[in-house]
Amino acid sequence: MHLAVVEPGWSLEAWRERARAALLAGVAPEHLQWDGDAQQGLALASPLPEAPEAQGRVTVPAALLELAGAVVCHRDPGRHALLYRLLWRIARGERRLLERATDPDVVAAAALAAAVRRDCHKMKAFVRFREGGGGEGAYVAWFEPDHWIVDRVAPFFAKRFAGMRWAILTPYRSVRWEGGALAFGPGAVRADAPAEDAQEDLWRTYYASIFNPARLNPTMMRQEMPQKYWKGLPEAELLPSLLRDAGRRVRDMAEREAQAPRRRIPARPAEAPPTDDGSLAAARVLAAGCQRCPLWEPATQTVWGEGPEDARLMFVGEQPGDAEDLTGRPFVGPAGALLDRAFADAGIDRSAAYLTNAVKHFRFQQRGKARLHQRPTTGHVNACHAWLRRELATVRPEVIVCLGATAAAAVLGAGFSLLEERGTWHQLGNGVRVLATVHPAWVLRQPAAAQGAAYRGLVDDLRLAA
Ligand code: URA
Repeated sequence: MHLAVVEPGWSLEAWRERARAALLAGVAPEHLQWDGDAQQGLALASPLPEAPEAQGRVTVPAALLELAGAVVCHRDPGRHALLYRLLWRIARGERRLLERATDPDVVAAAALAAAVRRDCHKMKAFVRFREGGGGEGAYVAWFEPDHWIVDRVAPFFAKRFAGMRWAILTPYRSVRWEGGALAFGPGAVRADAPAEDAQEDLWRTYYASIFNPARLNPTMMRQEMPQKYWKGLPEAELLPSLLRDAGRRVRDMAEREAQAPRRRIPARPAEAPPTDDGSLAAARVLAAGCQRCPLWEPATQTVWGEGPEDARLMFVGEQPGDAEDLTGRPFVGPAGALLDRAFADAGIDRSAAYLTNAVKHFRFQQRGKARLHQRPTTGHVNACHAWLRRELATVRPEVIVCLGATAAAAVLGAGFSLLEERGTWHQLGNGVRVLATVHPAWVLRQPAAAQGAAYRGLVDDLRLAA
């Protein structure tokens, strides 16, 4: 009998190295005991030869490696042996073993992998960072995973929250993101993480305002958000009352919807179509009667750009929101307020810049009294593109800043990836320099703990343009 020790037990590399040594030494699964197996007999087992003595090639199918990457993270003590059994059988000729969905080993491994993937998904969804622990500007979260998944999920958080200093503590392992690198450490206790921070009231207010009682399915919700995670979620304390009041709120909404829809601004100003002298003023009047796409009908009015006709800096947003639709001016609602703050922090004078949108009518879905923002489609952006081109051609800015992916696609083309190219300079054919950054509404939608970092990222990008 041989003994294989995988240290740490969730490391795919460590398992691979031991499995390779065992395979090359011809040790059959029934003669190999893995460290997590039943403890009896361990004293009698002899260690495997070290890898350097067992040189040779072992080709492991990519599908097995992918499966093994998830399975090694499961808490099941038999997982290393199960994976080795699969490897052994594949190496002995069952090349298509993983395609046999009813094979007991394949079924068992698939179930372990699914449980690990579910746990990873929950960690991504339910980790809540709180400001406080670990020094100025650092965010700390407490999480209790079911499996050994911290190493597997940490790169996701590194990418998602690259701009902030954070740590995730769990009972068996911790991970920190500092100076652009992940550092793993020992487990912790819940008391090591802050219990509450100053941003949480803001987050709860936002959560309550976006909670849609008409979409509520309590059974699904409990499945998706099991109660064991609630203790880490600031919004959880709202859930009992939101659930309790949901039925009444839906009935109220249905009654309100049955009433004739009210237009808050009664009629469009009737203006005689001007002769188009090529000026921005003429374009504005023509655009007021634009019916190139169906968005004109439910919207209150066309929201044209605003700012000096010779502005050197132009900002392009996605589309007007509720407040913009009612007032006829871009960026005057909550996203506009955040943008104004960011302008001030980045040293940009709003009154010297030209602000406009890729789409000039508000696209929304009516829910009771509320008009919920809906993203414009490519068709809407294309239909409006002539107006944007007209603004670009008349204002002729030196620099354009695209706020969000829709604006970036409208200015730089559909293949543009905001995730990869945000904050980098591009040049249009006519020499105009273009920079894309996140949309201020995206900053507002971030969880409370991530909002500070998201805001600072926006300001940093704006500074480049300033
Ligand atoms: N969001 C936008 O993209 N534009 C606005 O004008 C307001 C909100």
